[in-house]
Amino acid sequence: MASDIELPVPAVLIWKEDQLSILDQTRLPHETVYRQAQTPEVVWQAIKDLAVRGAPAIGIAAAYGLCLGARGLDKKSSADALSALREVADYLNSARPTAVNLAWALNRLMAVAQKHCQSGQSELPGSLYQRLCDEAIAVHQEDIALCRLIGTHGERLISEGAGVLTHCNAGALATGGIGTATAAMYEAQRQGRQFTVYADETRPLLQGGRLTAWELSRAGIDVRLLCDNMAASVMAAGKIDVVIVGTDRVAANGDVANKIGTLGVAILANYYGIPFYVACPYSTFDMQTPSGAEIEIEQRGAEEVLAIGGHRFAADVEVCNPAFDVTPSALVSGFITEQGIIYPPFEESLSQWDTDNGAGD
Ligand code: MRU
Repeated sequence: MASDIELPVPAVLIWKEDQLSILDQTRLPHETVYRQAQTPEVVWQAIKDLAVRGAPAIGIAAAYGLCLGARGLDKKSSADALSALREVADYLNSARPTAVNLAWALNRLMAVAQKHCQSGQSELPGSLYQRLCDEAIAVHQEDIALCRLIGTHGERLISEGAGVLTHCNAGALATGGIGTATAAMYEAQRQGRQFTVYADETRPLLQGGRLTAWELSRAGIDVRLLCDNMAASVMAAGKIDVVIVGTDRVAANGDVANKIGTLGVAILANYYGIPFYVACPYSTFDMQTPSGAEIEIEQRGAEEVLAIGGHRFAADVEVCNPAFDVTPSALVSGFITEQGIIYPPFEESLSQWDTDNGAGD
């Protein structure tokens, strides 16, 4: 697909000469700095720290991380190489629990490794490593195409003059391409429509304030930054026509895990009769998990809540810091995917959907 929408931000992940450069999003928007990763440990830490974040981007980073862990394994027997690789995959998968794209990407590469080792060609020097690199690059390239297709299907939800509310960053900074929720915005903009995006700042780590507002303004989209507690007020004022967010995992019944605060936005949208859409590629659907109740929600450290931008403002008190929440499928108007928009009833529509296969191929 022709990439006629330019990325408004620096590339999130660059794989070059057997090294992964990871845009350090903890430093954005003020500094553009890359962490250089030559080991899975550096990739694990970057995922843990949210230097790379957003479900699809985490999956791509982990795929490259597994490649880094595969260096030197060609010298081992097939069984030893596979078991060493499985250890690296489990380790990378432990960095964050909620986004299913992490396990999805690692499983995809492990399937390639398994096939390769079973084929008896593992004696060829460098070939397991090379096959994994090829697959990681394919995961990355596919994500670029998936984002573009999500935009193609989602743009119709943004009409001329619309107000669009989004939460966290499901943008180019969260994927290999033009984002998921933002893909609909970039495509609507490409088609010449004017609209306004209201971006929740997204406490505690401010992905909306630091990343989405920066990304959309660089793209020339009219963006207004909101503190999280302002969403109800702008909805009550009639400024929001549609909510579009991303997700880290969709359960088989259509329940949606996404950044903490999404549930509140969905409840508000329901109250005010505003459609609430979730944008994601097939790799974010987890048909093995029956409902949101079974999704593991990452709990993060107290300091993120006690401080803002490294500045401690609160007393030394106990903190509750779930990084994600689950929006029940009953509050979701539809899923914007690379294959089209999926509508309720989701138990039925998702069971018929091809969630094993991206870009319809
Ligand atoms: O903690 P983060 O910044 O990784 O959380 C990101 C989100 O919640 C995104 O909305 C989600 O991963 C979708 S990204 C296309």
